[in-house]
Amino acid sequence: MAQESNELMDKLTALCKRRGFIFQSSEIYGGIGGFWDYGPLGVELKRNLKDAWWEDVVRRRDDVVGLDCSIIMNPKVWEASGHVNNFNDPMVDCKGCKARFRADKVFTVIARQGDNVHLHVGVEADDDESARAAATEGANSKTRRRLEKGGDGIEWVSFRADQTADGQAGRCPKCGGELTDARKFNMMFKTFVGAMEDSTSVAYLRPETAQGIFCNYKNVLDTSRMRMPMGIAQTGKSFRNEINPRNYTFRSREFEQMEIEFFCHPDEADKWYKYWRDARYQWYVNLGLTSSKLTLRNHEGSELAHYARACADIEYAFPFGVAELEGVANRTDFDLKKHQEFSGKDMTYFDDQTKERYVPFVIEPSGGVDRAVLAFLCEAYTEDEAPDEKGKMQTRTVMRFHPRLAPTKVAVFPLVKKEGMPEIARKIHGDCQSAGLASFYDEKGAVGRRYRRQDEAGTPFCVTVDGQTLTDQTVTVRDRDSLTQDRIPADNVLAYVQKRLK
Ligand code: GAP
Repeated sequence: MAQESNELMDKLTALCKRRGFIFQSSEIYGGIGGFWDYGPLGVELKRNLKDAWWEDVVRRRDDVVGLDCSIIMNPKVWEASGHVNNFNDPMVDCKGCKARFRADKVFTVIARQGDNVHLHVGVEADDDESARAAATEGANSKTRRRLEKGGDGIEWVSFRADQTADGQAGRCPKCGGELTDARKFNMMFKTFVGAMEDSTSVAYLRPETAQGIFCNYKNVLDTSRMRMPMGIAQTGKSFRNEINPRNYTFRSREFEQMEIEFFCHPDEADKWYKYWRDARYQWYVNLGLTSSKLTLRNHEGSELAHYARACADIEYAFPFGVAELEGVANRTDFDLKKHQEFSGKDMTYFDDQTKERYVPFVIEPSGGVDRAVLAFLCEAYTEDEAPDEKGKMQTRTVMRFHPRLAPTKVAVFPLVKKEGMPEIARKIHGDCQSAGLASFYDEKGAVGRRYRRQDEAGTPFCVTVDGQTLTDQTVTVRDRDSLTQDRIPADNVLAYVQKRLK
């Protein structure tokens, strides 16, 4: 199972690089951990995802407006929000190879039988169970046989690097060396504003877009004449100096968020929390995360942050494990009250109809753009069988993106580069582009190969101008998923594609 998942991830990352979805940042210099670039197809996919979000949560609603805040803000913002004091991850270093890890993601696993220690290793994992599985999988065949043979007689011990048992040191997953005790590490990136590089000029790259919204909540209220309940939405870059960026783009140091802060009367917070939790889950389903891999997990009381009254994670079963795409939380009036306290500015709302003054509660759906892109890439990746030009069945790789997300909506080909076919195909391509459709023109190579390239890019429709077009002005439109080909008048291509993209 783990091997299959790794294979899928390897195939996906290879396709992403080969077809220009995702590249390593500054690759020619060996890259830099936790930073990624989106290539020509990737940037369209990501843009389509953000546009779909903006369209659905801002443009199609009367109760949410947009905002675009600066990345660097007054450092007091991060004192008020608690990030200066509390945005910490526990970290450990290896005393041998000097590798650094997030302490809550490193486990030491020991398997012993009487005095015989069969296994004593460090592994990176999310919990005890997966740590033991990873340790067993990583063991050599002799050890694995011993563990199998030992059965119930084996005593298993595992502990997290920040919860070491009896003062016992953790083991390094890389070299097996001894790990240091866990220390706190603040994940905000620091910089200096202005010419002086001293403590008075320290500023931070924002670790979330949310605080810019809280700071502007009064500006938006005063200028937009909005009433409660009302939301403010923002997409933008956030930065976290993650100790262990991993799982491709899943945990990066620079990433994009799409966040809504929805302000409402405290008495209505439960109702709006449920509304947004369910609406945001359904949004992913509507865009194609229809498989059982998408789940909504309500947090247990003990999991809740001290200021949150309720929280749910929208999770996806990635090949490397189940992990969060978006969190939806009832943050109460915590954030506005903190900013009121630290800034000295009034954050209350006065309802001129009920004559009531109160600090609104906030419901926060907070998603990661890059994580969503990765989930849609994983979900779209499919291998099936399709006939080649000679009718022989071949394995085909196809990215089954929802049409709204597909980087290219239509590809137009002349069957051959002569007899006026390129001119007709270019005209159709131009008409599609003028109508705002992402269209791709390709006249190179065998048409079967051109179809395959579009399947890998996830293009839902391929239009081919052929010999028959010259006599009756019709073209074929091939559907990426069903592989059916409709023959329609060349003049109808735009309307046909537009209708089916809805
Ligand atoms: N304002 C609340 C907030 O920022 P969060 O759970 O820390 O909450 C929200 O982050 C979302 O941002 C996550 O669900 C995830 O999709 C995305 N995210 C967080 N850290 C990330 C990282 N290091 N790399 C990629 N995406 C990340």
